[in-house]
Amino acid sequence: MDVQYFVSIFILLWRRTDSSDAYPKLCFPEDFMFGVATASYQIEGGWNVSGKGESIWDRYTHQYPERVFDHKNGDVSDDSYHRYKEDVKLLKELGVNFYRFSISWPRILPTGFINDINKDGIRYYNELIDELHRNNIEPVVTMYHWDLPQVLQDLGGWTNPIIADYFVDYAKVLFKEFGDKVRFWLTFNEPLSFCHDGYGGNDAPGGQASGLEDYMCGHNVLRAHGKVYTLYSKEYRNEQQGSIGITLDIAWMEPATTSKEDQDAAETARQFTYGWFAHPILTDEGDYPQIMRQRIDQNSKRQNFARSRLPHFTSDEVQEIRSSFDFLGLNHYTTYMVSPGDNKTSAVPSFNNDMGVSMSQKAEWPKSNSSWLKVVPWGFRKALNWVKTTYNNPNILVTENGISLKPGLHDPKRVNYIDGYLRALHDAIYKDKCRVIGYTYWSLLDNFEWMRGFSERFGLYEVDYESAERTRSPRLSASYFNNVATTGCLPTSSDDYVEYTLTNK
Ligand SMILES: *[C@@H]1O[C@H](CO)[C@@H](O)[C@H](O)[C@H]1NC(C)=O
Ligand SMILES: *[C@@H]1O[C@H](CO)[C@@H](O)[C@H](O)[C@H]1NC(C)=O
Repeated sequence: MDVQYFVSIFILLWRRTDSSDAYPKLCFPEDFMFGVATASYQIEGGWNVSGKGESIWDRYTHQYPERVFDHKNGDVSDDSYHRYKEDVKLLKELGVNFYRFSISWPRILPTGFINDINKDGIRYYNELIDELHRNNIEPVVTMYHWDLPQVLQDLGGWTNPIIADYFVDYAKVLFKEFGDKVRFWLTFNEPLSFCHDGYGGNDAPGGQASGLEDYMCGHNVLRAHGKVYTLYSKEYRNEQQGSIGITLDIAWMEPATTSKEDQDAAETARQFTYGWFAHPILTDEGDYPQIMRQRIDQNSKRQNFARSRLPHFTSDEVQEIRSSFDFLGLNHYTTYMVSPGDNKTSAVPSFNNDMGVSMSQKAEWPKSNSSWLKVVPWGFRKALNWVKTTYNNPNILVTENGISLKPGLHDPKRVNYIDGYLRALHDAIYKDKCRVIGYTYWSLLDNFEWMRGFSERFGLYEVDYESAERTRSPRLSASYFNNVATTGCLPTSSDDYVEYTLTNK
C-alpha cells in the first residue's frame, strides 16, 4: 500500500463526511447482494498442470500469439490456480456477499468427455468453494466462460449439434460434485460474444463464417442451456435447492435521433444482439425475435440458400428452452447510437449485414482504456428498463459491469464509473421498479483480457505481472467498493466524485 493510496482513502473519507448533508444517501434493498467476478482462463494460469486438458484459448493464443495485442497468453496469468486462497482473502477484505467465478471444462474433463474425470480439477474447485463458504462468501458459478476443450472444437465445437449432449454430461458432473454447495449457477457467459466473435470474428477458436457459424453456435448454446435447465429441475433441484440462469450481455442501443427510422434501427439492434438469446428463453413464441427471423430468412433466400441460415427449434427444444431460467444474468458496460445501415444487400452472409444497422459512440462520452467502452451510466438504466418491459420484468442479477483503465493504484475514474452506474441502477430499482437482486463488478483482479492481453486492466486489485508472486495490490476503487458492499449504500453524490477526480489528477 503506497502513500498515495493512503492519502486517497483519507480524501475519500473526508469528502464523504464533508458532503453527507448535501446529498441524500442512496441505499440498496436489505437483501441486495454485492459481488465481484472473474473467469477461469483469464485468471487461473496452470494451463497444463495437474491433468488439465487443452482449451481453445490455450491452442489459439499459442498458435497465433501475434493476434493478441501484446502477444501474451493465459498460461500463467494471475496464477489463481495456485493462489486462490490469497484471492479469497481479498474477497473477504472487500466485504462482498458473493464471488462469481467460472469452472474450466478441460480442467474437469481433459478429453472433453466424461470418460476421464480429472480428480485434481474436482479437488481445486472443491477447495475454492469450501474456502469461500468458510469466509461467508456465496459462490456464483459460471459453467462455461469460453474455454472449450480443444478436443470438442476439433469436432466442430459449438457448431456441432451433438455438443449440447456433451455439455449436459459436463453439467451433470458439476451438479454431482459441487451442487450441494452452490446455490447460483450460470450455464453460459455472453453467448453473443463467444458465438459472434469466436465463429465470425477474431476470438478463439478463430471461426470466420459469420452469418452461418455464429447462428449455429447460438442455436446449440440455447439447446444446451435448455437441456441443462431441464436436467437440474428433474434430477437436482429438489435436493440441492439452487437456481439456474444464463448471462446475456446487453449494450444499450440508443436511437441516433428521434426519427422513426432510427428508433426502428435501434430496436432491430436490440433484438439481434440481446433478443437473439433472450427471446427464445423469455417469451412464449418458441423462436428467435421476429425481426431476426424475417431479415435472415429473406437474405438467405436472396442469396440462394435452400433454407434460412437461422435454424429452427424442434417442439421438444422449444419446451426445454422456454422459461429456462430462475434468474437472468446481465452484463452491461456501454452504449451505442444506432441508425439504419446503408442497406446494401451483400452476397456474403454475415451477422452485421443481416442486422443492417450502423452503430457509433459520441465523442464527448468519457473514455476508458478499451476502444469500445465509453462511460454512459444512463444507458444502463435504459437497458434495464427495456429488459423489464420487453420480457415482463424478470429477476436480474447484474453479473458484470466495469471499466478498464491504465495500470495504477489511484483510479478515481473507476470510482466514478462504478458510482455513476450504481446510481443508474438505484434509479432502475427504486424509480422504475426493475427487479434486480444484485450487482457484480468486473473484475476482482486485473486479468488476461482475451485479444487485448494484459493491456486492459479492469481490476479493483492491480496485479504485478513482473513479479513471480503476481502481487495483488488494492486500488482506490477497492476501498470505494468495500464501503458500498459493507454499508449497502452509495456514500456521496456522483458529482462529488467528478469533482474529486478533477482535484486529484
Ligand atoms: C507447461 O507449459 C509451460 C509453458 O507455459 C512449459 O514450460 C512446460 O514445460 C509445460 N509443462 C508440461 C508438463 O507440459
Ligand atoms: C432496404 O431494403 C429492403 C429490402 O431489400 C427494402 O424493403 C427497404 O425499403 C430498404 N430500406 C431503405 C431505407 O432503403
